[in-house]
Amino acid sequence: MSLFGNDEIKQVVEKSELNKTLTMSDVEIEHYKKFLIYDDISDIVNKTMVGNSIDILPKIKSEIFNLVVADPPYNIDKKFKDFKFSSISEKEYMSWSDSWIKECYRTLKNNGSMYICCDWKTSQLLHSILKDYFFIQNRITWEREKGRGCKNNWKNNIEDIWFVTKSKNYYFNIDAVMIKRKVNFGYHNVDGSNRDWDVENGVKTRNTYPSNVWTDITIPFWSMIENTEHPTQKPEKLVAKLICASSQQGDFVFDPFLGSGTTSVVSKKLNRKYFGIELQEYYACLCEKRIDMSNSNAKIQGYENGIFLDRNINLK
Ligand SMILES: C[S@@+](CC[C@H](N)C(=O)[O-])C[C@H]1O[C@@H](n2cnc3c(N)ncnc32)[C@H](O)[C@@H]1O
Repeated sequence: MSLFGNDEIKQVVEKSELNKTLTMSDVEIEHYKKFLIYDDISDIVNKTMVGNSIDILPKIKSEIFNLVVADPPYNIDKKFKDFKFSSISEKEYMSWSDSWIKECYRTLKNNGSMYICCDWKTSQLLHSILKDYFFIQNRITWEREKGRGCKNNWKNNIEDIWFVTKSKNYYFNIDAVMIKRKVNFGYHNVDGSNRDWDVENGVKTRNTYPSNVWTDITIPFWSMIENTEHPTQKPEKLVAKLICASSQQGDFVFDPFLGSGTTSVVSKKLNRKYFGIELQEYYACLCEKRIDMSNSNAKIQGYENGIFLDRNINLK
């Protein structure tokens, strides 16, 4: 039974018309808890698990995932509901990271890929671990277009995403992640036809290949329906790009630090199987609520008809 659509609950959840931030009432928590798993890992397909990945990962079968999307706590003080991640020494962070990275390697299929999100400080630490297990394919830099201003330093506006594969034989589909950009000057062929551009609702556009610098994605703002209370939620559009490029429909996608559930929600919207582990039951419930909502709205903001739209492109 779905709770989404129940007007009484919506009244509790909604704040102002513009603020779409998704929260959970006590009734909803009790409801969505029923869908979570806690100890039993005999059936993990399309499940959200509450627990510590470091303990759970070694119990998971080898070579079952096609894709791992990992967004671990960066090495900074950060409160995730009742759990506070406290900054530790580089050596400790590397040792902690090694303990889950090696298990992700083991649980990945031989032609599988993994993406790991990090900030500029942890990026170099993770690279030195990843290179011992994986083939490093690329480092994506995401300009996330929001960061805290700073008087005595440059505002941090980027995050890195390492793209690594278990073997040289990996699945990758660039045609599934083309970007529609606005064209300023449309050139013509000799016969007068448009050279590689189209006109949509009066706007000249071209579908282009994406690079490893991503400037077309904002963090979820509170006016976006995908936004939740999670402090470091990733945008659905960003995760959709990773999933579209590195998995096929029906593939199995895993996230060991699920947070508000973005990886699982996007996997479901894109017809992939999913499994995620999250320490905090509240966030795991949020994930289940988002999955429930996706049954009635599977749209991913900024992704239309198999194409990713550049920022601020208005074709309506
Ligand atoms: C950076 S956030 C992930 C955010 C997520 N990508 C999203 O879009 O919501 C990291 C999450 O990992 C969880 N976490 C931290 N340590 C964990 C562990 N050992 N096992 C499972 N989850 C953990 C935190 O509670 C937090 O929600």
